[in-house]
Amino acid sequence: MLSTLYTFFAYFAIVIFVFGILCKIWKYAIIPNPLKIPLTPAPTNAIGVVIRMILDVAFFKSLFNSNKFTWLGGVALHLALLVVVASHIRFFISPVPEPIMLLQTFLQSIGMFIGLLFIMPIVYLFIRRVWVDRTRFISIFADYFVLILLFLIGLSGITMKYLIRPDLAAVKTFILGLTSFCPAPIPTNPIFITHFTLILILLIYFPFSKLMHSSGIFFSPTRNQIDNPREKRHVNPWG
Ligand code: HEM
Repeated sequence: MLSTLYTFFAYFAIVIFVFGILCKIWKYAIIPNPLKIPLTPAPTNAIGVVIRMILDVAFFKSLFNSNKFTWLGGVALHLALLVVVASHIRFFISPVPEPIMLLQTFLQSIGMFIGLLFIMPIVYLFIRRVWVDRTRFISIFADYFVLILLFLIGLSGITMKYLIRPDLAAVKTFILGLTSFCPAPIPTNPIFITHFTLILILLIYFPFSKLMHSSGIFFSPTRNQIDNPREKRHVNPWG
């Protein structure tokens, strides 16, 4: 019964996640940009725009220029997210390819820190949001909600790693069952069920949340426009 429920819940969450993101991207792509508004100093050609985008996406350059403390928390959180994703690949692939095995061995050797690496920036960004007057003033429930959700996912992950170990083979069988459309029973470890439930909530929430900044940034006119209003006339779609 629980397994059937979670199988439906998981597929439902994935459908909302994928279609939600695609719909949002479609909306971002077709929305007209009536004005030329690149954030200065802006690149004057397409290559410059690509370089600017890469620097922003990979190193959060514009955040670095505006606030070093927030930059530190942001970079730490996103790097930790990358490491966490890498350390989870083994649950989704069988057999695990050699390079990923090597990466996995490395991650396991620093395993103690992965959970903390993930949780610490979340706590830091949460404290900053409450502590800094002007950040608190502009914060809404959604800003706290996403941090709390990620924190709880990390906390349940760490609990599984150090306190209440799930049967990792059963976890893998369950996940591979989902990905191959041959559902297997969900492991009964309550912390795993909590971890998994929180992840499904995250998947459903993602397309409607500020987490869409991950794709929205590519459509941001302040970043993706070329600063060439004199060389090339910008036509307002309804002008
Ligand atoms: C369906 C997807 C997922 C499954 C099946 C899963 C399962 C697990 C399991 C079984 C562990 C314990 C690992 C161990 O004992 O070595 C764990 C740890 C953890 N998980 Fe997940 N997880 C998933 C997705 C996520 C996501 C999306 C995040 C973050 C947003 C996340 C964050 C963590 C963290 C921070 C840990 C602790 C890692 C450590 O301390 O080494 N998990 N997860």
